[in-house]
Amino acid sequence: MSIESKYSYKKIKEKVFKLAKNACFNPANEYTDTAWEHHVIPVTNFALKLGKKLGGDLEVLELAALLHDYSAMLDIKNAKDHHIHSARMATDILNSEGYDKKKIKKVEKAILSHRGSVNVLKDDLESKILASADAMSHISELADMFYLTYGVHKHKTEEGAEWLLAKLERSWSKIMPEGKDEIIEDYKIAKKILEKAIV
Ligand SMILES: [Fe+2]
Ligand SMILES: [Fe+2]
Repeated sequence: MSIESKYSYKKIKEKVFKLAKNACFNPANEYTDTAWEHHVIPVTNFALKLGKKLGGDLEVLELAALLHDYSAMLDIKNAKDHHIHSARMATDILNSEGYDKKKIKKVEKAILSHRGSVNVLKDDLESKILASADAMSHISELADMFYLTYGVHKHKTEEGAEWLLAKLERSWSKIMPEGKDEIIEDYKIAKKILEKAIV
């Protein structure tokens, strides 16, 4: 092992965990603090679960999941290009902590490509897993998605159900088969509830 790659993962993970959590709980976070328990943590858990199943780099997955939306939580102005800003911020944080350079590149790549709407090639396992885990949390955290639909976007009952159903279908289509297996029951329940609301 080179000197450069001697790092304490435990220390780095604690630092990143704290930064990501503080960003969620910062009063300026327009997604509000529910983003921590109902998005960042589920995405991290799904990423680790898929990573264990498929042999991904668990350190890379954990760090990328914790920081994937970091910039948007810090400032809503970053939301539009939050994959770019979060990737840059993650790189800066991990460099300053002396983390392994190759792994930093992998974290950066996974964050850059985590959005389905962004055309960055997901040609590595960790990028594919993070994008799946992000989409899985939209389906598994239905109550939080209701909050987003009706609380944040202020949709009325039916238009909100239509909006959310379309969003969930887009998310479902982005999930890798092993991820779909994990949440198929949640997907069926969410679909049933939303379809019932659309007359
Ligand atoms: Fe995101
Ligand atoms: Fe996300």
